[in-house]
Amino acid sequence: MAVGCAVPLRGSSRGLGSVVFRQQKWKSSVSTHAKMPPCDFVPEKYKSHPYEHMRKIREQNISPSLRTYYKEPLLLHQGHMQWLFDYEGRRYLDLFAGIVTVGVGHCHPKVTMATQKQLARLWHISSIYMHPSIQEYAEKLTSLFPDPLKVVYLTNSGSEANDLAMFMARLYTRNFDIISFRGSYHGSSPYTLGLTSVGLYKHGVANGFGCLTTMVPDVFRGPWGGSHCRDSPVQTVRKCSCSEGVCHAKDQYIEQFKDTLNTSVPKTIAGFIAEPIQGVNGAVQYPRGFLKEAFQLVRERQGVCISDEVQTGFGRTGSHFWGFQTHGVVPDIVTLAKGIGNGFPMAAVVTTKEIASSLAQNFHINTFGGNPLACTVGAAVLDAIEEDGLQKNSEDVGTYMLLELAKLRDKFKIVGDVRGKGLMIGVEMVTDKDHCHPLPAEEIGQILEDCKEMGVLIGRGGLYSQTFRIKPPMCITKKDVDFAVEVFDAALERHMERAAAK
Ligand SMILES: Cc1ncc(COP(=O)(O)O)c(C=O)c1O
Repeated sequence: MAVGCAVPLRGSSRGLGSVVFRQQKWKSSVSTHAKMPPCDFVPEKYKSHPYEHMRKIREQNISPSLRTYYKEPLLLHQGHMQWLFDYEGRRYLDLFAGIVTVGVGHCHPKVTMATQKQLARLWHISSIYMHPSIQEYAEKLTSLFPDPLKVVYLTNSGSEANDLAMFMARLYTRNFDIISFRGSYHGSSPYTLGLTSVGLYKHGVANGFGCLTTMVPDVFRGPWGGSHCRDSPVQTVRKCSCSEGVCHAKDQYIEQFKDTLNTSVPKTIAGFIAEPIQGVNGAVQYPRGFLKEAFQLVRERQGVCISDEVQTGFGRTGSHFWGFQTHGVVPDIVTLAKGIGNGFPMAAVVTTKEIASSLAQNFHINTFGGNPLACTVGAAVLDAIEEDGLQKNSEDVGTYMLLELAKLRDKFKIVGDVRGKGLMIGVEMVTDKDHCHPLPAEEIGQILEDCKEMGVLIGRGGLYSQTFRIKPPMCITKKDVDFAVEVFDAALERHMERAAAK
């Protein structure tokens, strides 16, 4: 399992414990004695095919479009809260949560128990009959939204939810054009791919009719940004002279938004969709006040405003339950997925009675959407968030982590930006802070490998795959953060030594 030139000396068989990197090629020694916090959960023994056989099946029988992380992809076997265990029983701290999905923790006992009970009671009947769990869940979920967002349509994935949101926006407004931000990810279905604006996901087939993109107001990488633009405990390293309550960067980006409205769409539009913080693009945050003004401009054109909360919802941003609340706006349509089911395939569109009724002019059905199992899982997830205080934990632990990571930004020239809110965090890597060229993808990949070897799983994103994405289960602790930051620090040290040895 040695990666690159360092050989990690493993601690215990059930976890990496204290990990030491033994130097093989570089002169100076790089080591970390980061201690993995204890966990008393004991995984079952792995009993399936050997690793190599699993890789062969993956190569031969599973679509090659589904890419894996790491030179030796992980074969994971079991999960418990913030921990994952591989086929050899090795333990990892999961800072990516199955791509920002496992919000309350892997196999959370309360969610698991509720699901097991429902499995024995009723799985599926479709929407042509009533069952108690959908009513109970709809009431519970919509009670978390401000008026007039009180009607829910349940689907199975985020792409489906955004498909439906686009469809409803067009039906309701009788307009066609929908605007999204560059760098946004709203799904890979043929309909949503028009909104998705990350080159890596684009394919050379006709799609996206009526979809257009506008400049993302990215205060780190974009042309404008200053020292207090964003709603985060950590600001960019850029300086500005804006006085309290003024943000020139926001004003400049609003001009760009107006430019799109004036040049690229008719007088009336169907809508505008935005994530409150961009997920796949690496936790890109907009200047405070931007969304509020943009929503107003969209509504002046009769468009509806859609908030894609697939990553930012369910307390992840800490200060609020929904990301849109952090911008002081109320959207017309909200889409939910990922954290809604803690890994169970479910999603939702929440909207107003008026917009929802546009879809009722004719039949519209989703066979699995809102099935008894999904609704039971969804309700148990909401209970777990409340009972375990996970929104508050996201705020406390997320803020702590952001401030700890900011120290690494000050220490390493290749850490260009640390940003985010709650447990929605991005660490953007650059060749050096003066130029902000993205750190090459292979170098990012090696840092990711090193973190994994030391027991920490991190995600990556950004237009150039240059940003580490840290969006763990919301149950992680400050001790876990200390461990993760120490591991990340060691991986960056190791990178610097590699670079110096070239
Ligand atoms: C913000 C956002 N919207 C929509 C989607 C699409 O969700 P799904 O993969 O469930 O179709 C994703 C998936 O990553 C996402 O991050």
